[in-house]
Amino acid sequence: MKVLSIVSQKGGTGKTTLATHLSVEAERHGHIPALIDLDPQASAAKWGDHRAADSPAVVATPASRLKQWLEIAKNNAATLAIIDTPPNTESSILEIAKVSSLVLIPCQPSLADVDAIETTVTLVKIAEKPAYVVLSRVPANTDLDIHARRAIRTNYDVAVAPCQIGNRVGFIHAYNSGATVGELEPNSKSANEIHALYAYIAKQMES
Ligand SMILES: Nc1ncnc2c1ncn2[C@@H]1O[C@H](COP(=O)(O)OP(=O)(O)OP(=O)(O)O)[C@@H](O)[C@H]1O
Ligand SMILES: [Mg+2]
Repeated sequence: MKVLSIVSQKGGTGKTTLATHLSVEAERHGHIPALIDLDPQASAAKWGDHRAADSPAVVATPASRLKQWLEIAKNNAATLAIIDTPPNTESSILEIAKVSSLVLIPCQPSLADVDAIETTVTLVKIAEKPAYVVLSRVPANTDLDIHARRAIRTNYDVAVAPCQIGNRVGFIHAYNSGATVGELEPNSKSANEIHALYAYIAKQMES
């Protein structure tokens, strides 16, 4: 079983949005996903409650029980565990990174957000796990993404996914109805961004 964790110290960067969307996308590609929600706000679990479909399986648990839940997921034939994490997780990032095959770090394209990934990047490096920053909630018709990519390249030794996620209202509708942008609007830009991100991450996890 592969383990993909989605981590960023800053709140509201899109962790839960990516965790839910990548879980559904993984299932579409033949995985049996288990979405493990470590956030006391339980946003991913609440998305699961709003959801009409009974998959992917979503469980909310404190980080102290993560290893046990990974074992349960594996014993129930899950092929990919996706871990959604709370903001301000300094104390547990290292433990989460250590059990991960790959760590995804969502980051909004502002210098404040780029500054805020420093601790996450450092701790993930210590765990020696592959990590990718993904720009998320990128406003249309700006060059904020270009500046953010440059700042990340200058300040950190971490890869940035070539694809990115725009700031699109479809993601908010999707959360509210326990769905994904692909389920609500299959041919939308947002759905295509998620397809591209999943394809990229899946390829990195294979290697
Ligand atoms: N790409 C996007 N475009 C527009 N809205 C988005 C996008 N991604 C997330 N949002 C919205 O922004 C808010 C925060 O997103 P989300 O809950 O995914 O972030 P988070 O990093 O999990 O937050 P927290 O740190 O509080 O757990 C939500 O209302 C969500 O619907
Ligand atoms: Mg969240």
